[in-house]
Amino acid sequence: MNEKTLVTWHEQSVNRPRGCVVWFTGLSGSGKSTVANCVDSLLYESKHRSFVLDGDNIRHGLNASREILEPSHGLEFAKRFGLGFGPQDREENIRRIGCVADIFCSAGMITLTAFVSPYRSDRDRVRAMVTANGSDSDFIEVFVDAPLEICEQRDPKGLYAKARAGELKGFTGIDAPYEPPSNPEIHLDGSAPAEQLAEQVIKYLESKDKLRK
Ligand code: ADX
Repeated sequence: MNEKTLVTWHEQSVNRPRGCVVWFTGLSGSGKSTVANCVDSLLYESKHRSFVLDGDNIRHGLNASREILEPSHGLEFAKRFGLGFGPQDREENIRRIGCVADIFCSAGMITLTAFVSPYRSDRDRVRAMVTANGSDSDFIEVFVDAPLEICEQRDPKGLYAKARAGELKGFTGIDAPYEPPSNPEIHLDGSAPAEQLAEQVIKYLESKDKLRK
């Protein structure tokens, strides 16, 4: 028992083989979600158990904003638990989703996450947790490396235009930082086609024996 929290860890009866966490990081518009979904489709076709956790989707529910929470939960609650894009809110976003990814990994899934996750320390904390619960090879950091100019040209949601116009503050790459991984397991050229990048990820997973059924 943890004497401070009075909460005890309960061991699970079933000892499953762990999956892994494939952590995509990069600027908004770099192609994280597209590549992750492409990898997911290939894995699904080959009957592997995988799932994508995507920043934009998770921020609709588990990590919803104040604005989403307020109507159903009230202002005080929404202020306390709603997440935005300040450094601490991003830290909590990544902490929560890191825990979810680790749970999925324990359930045997190849867990693909697509979050900007701009802070190295936040990603490293997730790595430390996932590898402590399994082994070093359980956390695979994938840097989707696309230059800001390309992401800004793509601007699929029109957010770069808003940020440049000053209508959106603290946008990653414009007026909020992005800290690239210093030693990612996979470094992708984000200007290449997504299908090609997905194949690169699949090859890596094969080479590390992560595609056993
Ligand atoms: S993270 O920084 O906390 O990891 P996350 O991946 O969940 O970010 O969400 C990023 C998505 O939210 C972006 O793709 C973009 O569509 C949207 N977004 C809205 N505001 C911002 C912002 N200030 N910075 C980055 N992304 C933003």
